[in-house]
Amino acid sequence: MDGYSDWPFRSLCRGLGSAISYTEFVKAEDVLARREQIADKLRFTEDERPLAIQLYGDDATTMCEAALRLQELRPDFIDINMGCPAKTIANRGAGAGLLRTPVKVARILRVLTASLAIPVTVKIRLGWDDDSLTYPLIARIAEAEGAAAIAVHGRTKVQGYGGQANWDAIAEVVQSVKIPVIGNGDIKTVPDIERMKNHTGCNAVMIGRAAISNPWVFARLDRAAVSSERVRATLLDHLERSLQFYGPARGLVLFRKYAAHYLSPYRLPKEVRQKLLTRQTPAEFLVLLDEIDLRGL
Ligand SMILES: Cc1cc2nc3c(=O)[nH]c(=O)nc-3n(C[C@H](O)[C@H](O)[C@H](O)COP(=O)(O)O)c2cc1C
Repeated sequence: MDGYSDWPFRSLCRGLGSAISYTEFVKAEDVLARREQIADKLRFTEDERPLAIQLYGDDATTMCEAALRLQELRPDFIDINMGCPAKTIANRGAGAGLLRTPVKVARILRVLTASLAIPVTVKIRLGWDDDSLTYPLIARIAEAEGAAAIAVHGRTKVQGYGGQANWDAIAEVVQSVKIPVIGNGDIKTVPDIERMKNHTGCNAVMIGRAAISNPWVFARLDRAAVSSERVRATLLDHLERSLQFYGPARGLVLFRKYAAHYLSPYRLPKEVRQKLLTRQTPAEFLVLLDEIDLRGL
């Protein structure tokens, strides 16, 4: 997830029980021409395997060149993003924009699967909007062109993240292809994992937003079941990873958004929360955190 699935967060989730990690998506053109700008997004460690690097773009040749470069980093597979609804990406025909151009999807997958030695997978949505539900076709194309698995987010591009994910559509994809299908959309609690599997027959589930507010979902714990001691311990572990990965200054800044999620269920006074989330050094953050007793809040 863009802005979230960096090494500190991925490795933390893996420690809690996640089975597969995906990097934040990277743009094909950036892989080829601005590699140093995305270097952090491409760093991973051996204990993260199986790990996918997620790539986006709209041109088969450029994407293939980029994927060949990414393959040199030895990820376990390359995942192609066909679901991002952001205007800057979808409107130029990449991300969810690809769902409107099945022929291009076929071309991209044909070139990539023929050129790479590692598996290629796709992450799709249901289509651009309700009048353009191309997922049955895109799924069949993905299978025919050699994709190793399909992750399906049960929403259209126009839906963004609103409304409800359509799990019936995910079930339809499961029925129509023989490759593994990963169900995605609206897994909010631990029971939702089995509910999605039972409803759709999918081989695995992908958890997005719920993991940001509750990474313990991978340990099969709902947020309310996580003690404040455990929250504090995980928060400190995550901070440590962030500082190690990015260095003290950037590590703290990039950690703040996760800290806000860790603390959101607690009724912390607004000014305390604000103060904590604006500390300038890790030491200041830790001193202030030490003064806060989360129990009973
Ligand atoms: C902040 C944010 C960033 C995301 N970035 C990506 C991304 O880079 N690649 C991707 O395939 N999906 C991305 N997604 C979509 C999620 O992977 C997922 O498909 C979507 O949130 C629905 O699943 P959920 O209900 O479990 O959150 C992102 C979602 C959010 C909220």
